[in-house]
Amino acid sequence: MLTIKVFSKKLIESEAQGLVFFTRPNEPILYEEDIKKDFFPGLKLLFEQQKQVGIVGETIVIPVTKNQKIIYLIFAGLGKPSMQKNLPLENFRRALGSVVRAAESRKISSLALSLPSPELFGVEIMHLAQTATIALRMASYHFDLYISDSDRKYFSPLEISFMEVSDVKTVQNGIDTGMIIGQAVNQTRYWIDLPPSVLTPPELADKAIDIAKQTGLKITVFGEEEINKMGMGGLAAVSSGSYQDCRFAILEYRTQKKDAPTIAFVGKGITFDSGGLSLKPSTAMETMKDDMSGAAAVISAMQAIANLKPNVNIIGLTPLAENLPSGSSAKPGDIVRFYNGKTAEIKNTDAEGRLILADALSYAVKHYKPDAIIDVATLTGACRHALGPFFTGMMSAHDELVVRLEKSARQTGDAVWRLPLTDDYKKAIKSTVADLCNTGNSNYNAGVITAACFLQAFVDDTPWVHLDIAGTAFDVPDISYYRPGATGAAVRLLIDLAMHWE
Ligand code: BES
Ligand code: MN
Ligand code: ZN
Repeated sequence: MLTIKVFSKKLIESEAQGLVFFTRPNEPILYEEDIKKDFFPGLKLLFEQQKQVGIVGETIVIPVTKNQKIIYLIFAGLGKPSMQKNLPLENFRRALGSVVRAAESRKISSLALSLPSPELFGVEIMHLAQTATIALRMASYHFDLYISDSDRKYFSPLEISFMEVSDVKTVQNGIDTGMIIGQAVNQTRYWIDLPPSVLTPPELADKAIDIAKQTGLKITVFGEEEINKMGMGGLAAVSSGSYQDCRFAILEYRTQKKDAPTIAFVGKGITFDSGGLSLKPSTAMETMKDDMSGAAAVISAMQAIANLKPNVNIIGLTPLAENLPSGSSAKPGDIVRFYNGKTAEIKNTDAEGRLILADALSYAVKHYKPDAIIDVATLTGACRHALGPFFTGMMSAHDELVVRLEKSARQTGDAVWRLPLTDDYKKAIKSTVADLCNTGNSNYNAGVITAACFLQAFVDDTPWVHLDIAGTAFDVPDISYYRPGATGAAVRLLIDLAMHWE
């Protein structure tokens, strides 16, 4: 496991195997004279030849000898500020991701760095230390549980030293918070990366129970029988084709503070989405173990929140089911009745996410009367077409809530992009035989938004934001602190939102 220690000593005096120097285009190199004198006289010459110096994500690694041992000088680009603007914090995350990759491939087990000046990014030192910790932990995640060959197991740097720290307490605070958040992100990724026959609905509910035991959060888990009895017709219908029972797991965090607002997080938990009788083509099914990414994000965020103790009440609700075809599956043409009494015609059994979320949202509204609801779901392929892999789709009719989420997205790097949600789209989900239809009229060509409209029918007047993470949850390319597989999308966002609600 990755550890981070804090030192006041100079970076150049660290005993680590890799010394990290952040660089920017046309900016002087820190410790240039020491490096030339002690390790590598050709430094300037090399940098003049290399055109990539200082560019974000580019690293230059130089092996040198120190006391008869090989150590590595790692130069990591931060990029240059554009016209009087601060450097984006995302540059720093990606630089750290690249450093971890460079260390990994050379089996460098300890790294030392000094945090760049927080003013460069326009943030506080605590936030910079927290950001660095999260990025380092995220970059160190790998899923190699089922890889037997030890040569193919990933190696990641284990010991990281933050050097030249003057305000030890503040930096340590940032590291401690970052460790909790980074752990939550990586745990989410691990659950998502587990095979779908391992991570079933009851299994994910058990993970939530474990977290409740660890943290003291209140937990309620409903089984299939109770779900049927309570009238959660959407969740029951989606689960009906599977041998696995469905679950509805609810974690509750209560602050000590009096009269604090209550926020509900609702996460889609389809542990495998075959499409049901409206079966997906095989290639579209390959990554459908990721269809519980929203639920995993909510459960892990609840764990972090229990440890970080914000001054708001947070309820995490996760409907959990498997969507499979069989003799007992829901059929196109079926009509289901949800927890709030509304009905929907199922035209396509592959539009199952909105069916389980409809019940969970209705339940949240009725039992918790929350001041705001955020739902997180790998809801539509259309979202991937609209925004690609770098932005989570955000839809809401509540501008104030949107502003909060946009702020958290900027702070954490968990990026969101708003799409419109107006009443014009509502016609697309009308049904001739029920209150709603689970597929949007294809003439509208607005599958992301019409899916959001469907959910909107279950939140009443509660301020609500829908986050579609279908594009951002899995296999995001080019970002150095991710890997192929799960990303943990929305975990950082939800935690930040809870921490900065007031
Ligand atoms: N889980 C999928 C959406 C998805 C697609 C997530 C690709 C991640 C990657 C969802 O349940 C689904 O199948 N949606 C359908 C809805 C359609 C039938 C109205 C879709 O987007 O095709
Ligand atoms: Mn589906
Ligand atoms: Zn799905």
